[in-house]
Amino acid sequence: MNSFQLADDSAPLLSLSPKFILPEDKRPQLSEVTSLDSIPIIDLSDRSCNDDDSSSSLVVQKISRACEEYGFFQIVNHGVPEQVCNKMVSAITDLFNLPPEKRKQLYTTDHTKTTKLYNYYLQVEGGEKVKMWSECFSHSWYPIEDVTHLLPQEIGIQYGEAFSEYAREIGSLVRRVLGLISIGLGIEEDCLLKILGDEPRLRAQANFYPPCPDPELTLGLPVHTDVNVLTVILQSQVSGLQVIKDGKWIAVPAIPNAFVINLGDQIQVLSNGRFKSVHHRAVTNKLGPRVSMAMFYGPNLETIIGPIEELIDDEHPPRYTSYRFSEFLEEFYNQEGSRRMVKEVFELPN
Ligand code: OGA
Ligand code: NI
Repeated sequence: MNSFQLADDSAPLLSLSPKFILPEDKRPQLSEVTSLDSIPIIDLSDRSCNDDDSSSSLVVQKISRACEEYGFFQIVNHGVPEQVCNKMVSAITDLFNLPPEKRKQLYTTDHTKTTKLYNYYLQVEGGEKVKMWSECFSHSWYPIEDVTHLLPQEIGIQYGEAFSEYAREIGSLVRRVLGLISIGLGIEEDCLLKILGDEPRLRAQANFYPPCPDPELTLGLPVHTDVNVLTVILQSQVSGLQVIKDGKWIAVPAIPNAFVINLGDQIQVLSNGRFKSVHHRAVTNKLGPRVSMAMFYGPNLETIIGPIEELIDDEHPPRYTSYRFSEFLEEFYNQEGSRRMVKEVFELPN
């Protein structure tokens, strides 16, 4: 594994060639990442979760606070069997262990392709593209029940089997968490799910970060916010995800049997700015490969997104204009390669 080779590259990743090296002001400055703060860890099996009066349950309160303050939290005792997650991680590891010639068949830079293997990059001054130290495989997970027929043959059957089982579990988990988030916002439990409709846009992204000779000079994923509503991240037992809080980067530790949940731009708009979609990045490490799976749950292209009416009153005027989600995505792809500012485009003046 020490000589991982990207699908679109001719040389193994042994040393950090210039195409991966970020300009100084874009480097991660790892010594400044704070260990004094961390994102909340929420136990979903907490008994008060089952209180009759669910609006005051401790879990709802904790989730709401995390959504307001961090836009991120980890959940434990979520009910997804450990072995389903372990199978997913090993299927992803095997996928990225396929020979580069095989992975190359899936590689594309065309973002309109629904199934694709690609690298992120950051466009720096002068228009040059600096590659990220990672490779990503992305595909749909709609319909949740079974997407194996949508997956390319090249990847073999193990990934599809592991994924089908995993996707069903994550589908239920997301519905549950969206219910808790809705209650926290003071709206009907099924309100967010209803807005997302019967045909949500579901994307999965398996990320692979090979060990990196110098993690100070590059990144695994550029600084970004997620474009969807809610993301569930599973990480192998190696950390790398970092989140911005009050202008400082904080590391998200890899906790056994936990999921990282983060809010995407659409919740920030739907909640009229109360819940945050927060900038995050993945850094690399020297020691060994890191694997993660991000499951993105979002509206379909036709859905109209705007601040939820019940959250608007004289004291809380709308902060965003309503738009069709396809318009938001178009803006998102227009800003590719940059530290995107997509939701800002839809902000209303004060
Ligand atoms: C993402 C993401 C973080 C990680 O895929 O959008 O932020 O830890 N991933 O891989
Ligand atoms: Ni992300």
